[in-house]
Amino acid sequence: MAKKFFVKTYGCQMNKHDSEKIAGLLLSEGHESAEGINDADIVVFNTCCVRESAEAKLYGNVNSLRVVKDQRPDLIIAIGGCLAQKEGANLQEKMPHVDVVFGTHNFANLPNLIRNAGRGQKICEILQASPGVIKNPSTQRENSTKAWVTISTGCNNFCSYCIVPYVRGRETSRPFEDIVAEVEKLADEGFLETTLLGQNVNSYGRDLYGKLRFAELLRTLNKIDGIERIRFTSPHPRDFGMDVVLAIAECEKVCEHVHLPLQAGSNKVLKDMRRGYTKKDYLELVEAIYKTIPECSITTDIMVGFPGETEEDFADTLDVIKQARFDNAFMFIYSPRKGTKAAEMKNQISEEVKMDRFNRLLEAQNKSCIENNRLLVGKEIEVLVEGVSKKDKSALTGRTRTNKVVNFSGPPSLIDELARVKIKEARSWSLVGELNGAYKRRITCQL
Ligand code: SAH
Ligand code: SF4
Ligand code: F3S
Repeated sequence: MAKKFFVKTYGCQMNKHDSEKIAGLLLSEGHESAEGINDADIVVFNTCCVRESAEAKLYGNVNSLRVVKDQRPDLIIAIGGCLAQKEGANLQEKMPHVDVVFGTHNFANLPNLIRNAGRGQKICEILQASPGVIKNPSTQRENSTKAWVTISTGCNNFCSYCIVPYVRGRETSRPFEDIVAEVEKLADEGFLETTLLGQNVNSYGRDLYGKLRFAELLRTLNKIDGIERIRFTSPHPRDFGMDVVLAIAECEKVCEHVHLPLQAGSNKVLKDMRRGYTKKDYLELVEAIYKTIPECSITTDIMVGFPGETEEDFADTLDVIKQARFDNAFMFIYSPRKGTKAAEMKNQISEEVKMDRFNRLLEAQNKSCIENNRLLVGKEIEVLVEGVSKKDKSALTGRTRTNKVVNFSGPPSLIDELARVKIKEARSWSLVGELNGAYKRRITCQL
């Protein structure tokens, strides 16, 4: 029988895209999407466990459904994703009102699990290995212009702090032709932008073809008519060869933006993290990118408070921020994850020191952001218009090829189009501009 479902997602873009696949699967089973939890018969939580805080949020939200489940015993509560993979049936022990627990490798089976749960069973299904990236998934995309495309799943790196390889399994590349076919289909459907997803995109191909084929993939996708922007996340600095740098420089559709997770600046910490590069390697790569790809923006992930991090080690992180001139950074406080090597290390850092370093990191990075943004004032930039600004309903909001947010006034008919915007003002996390005109062939609106 058709039911209404709502998917609540935590975590990274891979999880968000998995949720689109989950929604696609449920729709193709005849279910319908609900507006929110209140009018849903099925609530699916797609979870993250990369940090303690992500877990805490999930437990809070699922526990708050206990009362609803008491009132509506037919409500089906399902928990999938990374925390489900890690905890399995423990989740149902802690929260007996949860009907279904499913892992990261078996969401394709969710419709069946839900059917059985509807017959009153408690279900927990966790597979330990990937059956491969799903071929031609039916996907209910959140956006009609920008689309995520999975190129690989899992991770073989086992950075010492990270839970991802334990919950996402070994790195599994998707066949080259399948990726190309999906992007061709997206172009036919009118999508302008695609973001290639994997935990370690630039090692794409190693497991399947015995060699890295990421640069070749970029060059092949660049030839697809209709797609205007190609993005990818995340590459690993260690596997980032000059072939990829050159492919970004030479492919006009591949955006001038590289998200290059640094994690830490100190060689000692990088070694303990098992990252496979030094501060010098990282900075040389950054310089090669700036030199080869003019106006490239570089963003990063940084963590403070890894076990054993001294004040001197932290100074190295601040030094890389200065030298690398990042446009943006996701910054995190190290969170010990049970089962990882780093969680067992003796020299854990106190919460107080972590917090102090985090605040200093924020300050240094904000400075770098605003300095970079100021350089753009007076320039005309291509913006893919995403919608109406959340903060100011009279303004439009969109992104530059370098992935910066730009707010400006313009007609709503520009939404999902490429616009020319002159930058008037720089802020730390966004730019304010003025509409100069429409860009490309798709424009039919009057300005
Ligand atoms: N595969 C991607 C992303 C992994 S998770 C990559 O390697 O770039 C995203 C980010 O979360 C990481 O880059 C890291 O900065 C952060 N992270 C991972 N484990 C963490 C932990 N135990 N504590 C705090 N932050 C963590
Ligand atoms: Fe985690 Fe490292 Fe793999 Fe990224 S590369 S998912 S940080 S183990
Ligand atoms: Fe992503 Fe969180 Fe899993 S960051 S891979 S959803 S642990």
